[in-house]
Amino acid sequence: MTDLKSKFLEVYSVLKSELLNDPAFEFTDDSRQWVERMLDYTVPGGKLNRGLSVIDSYKLLKEGKELTDDEVFLACALGWCIEWLQAYFLILDDIMDNSQTRRGQPCWYKLPKVGMIAVNDGIILRNHIPRILKKHFKGKHYYVDLLDLFNEVEFQTASGQMIDLITTLVGEKDLSKYSLPIHRRIVQYKTAYYSFYLPVACALLMSGENLDNHIDVKDVLIEMGTYFQVQDDYLDCFGAPEVIGKIGTDIQDFKCSWLVVKALELCNDEQKKLLYENYGKEDPSCEAKVKELYKVLNIQGVFEEYESKSYEKLINSIGAHPNKAVQALLKSFLAKIYKRQK
Ligand code: IPE
Ligand code: MN
Ligand code: MN
Repeated sequence: MTDLKSKFLEVYSVLKSELLNDPAFEFTDDSRQWVERMLDYTVPGGKLNRGLSVIDSYKLLKEGKELTDDEVFLACALGWCIEWLQAYFLILDDIMDNSQTRRGQPCWYKLPKVGMIAVNDGIILRNHIPRILKKHFKGKHYYVDLLDLFNEVEFQTASGQMIDLITTLVGEKDLSKYSLPIHRRIVQYKTAYYSFYLPVACALLMSGENLDNHIDVKDVLIEMGTYFQVQDDYLDCFGAPEVIGKIGTDIQDFKCSWLVVKALELCNDEQKKLLYENYGKEDPSCEAKVKELYKVLNIQGVFEEYESKSYEKLINSIGAHPNKAVQALLKSFLAKIYKRQK
């Protein structure tokens, strides 16, 4: 494990024990144990890319200057706030998407003792974020901006989740209404803001920057986040569950996935009929027919082309940025996700 990752995990233990001893609530042994188990199960088990990238970004913005222990701790704490936000959204997302597994284990709500208590656990996780921020950032000149940033991004993500969910009502009526602009809007909101913009925005605030002066960075990050969610859509169907840690549900769930949008663009009338009859059905044999059609239409090849085109476009946008430190930061982000398998 890298130094940075082990440092990051150390900070998790500190934050966890602070939350488990929060004086605002009189914990009993049972309630403390519940929260501890819930945190350990839902928060630290992912790739931690979003959280770690706050520290990476902050370092790059400091252009090689050694960080103090205090700065490292604060950057890690902000990274964990993003991981907490993600854990909160994922607990609820898995319920809404009727998913079975996440990060290589059953979804939290699938555990027999948990069930719909998971809804409240999500709310608890969400409430931990302002508690972490208050404990470690109150008094910093950027405290209010930080609270505002998390509020804005949470609202955008929840709105993205809403349009993801209600768009399926449109598709159920008429699948051919699914289109790239609709898909783009969903994924920008549900994924790009919190996964790509938020970590960098946290690092910028810590560096004393005003976010209004970095709209161009935001635009590139949103573009990158869109590409990242197209990869997620691709992996939902073509990824190996052992590698991605989750079993895809997009076809059964009638999702406006990038793959179905592309399939609709490419299919003939007969293939379109097959899609209409089999998309969004619980039956695994229907799902298999849709996957077969994706193969016939060479959606995998279409994706690979999209992937290299997106990469090229992103590299060009990054190159156009005037600040070298920002360029390095954006390039390191892109390198981490290009051709990812998980
Ligand atoms: C959900 O998108 C994004 C958020 C959690 C906000 P997906 O529904 O595609 O995510 P996975 O595939 O279940 O991880
Ligand atoms: Mn999901
Ligand atoms: Mn997905």
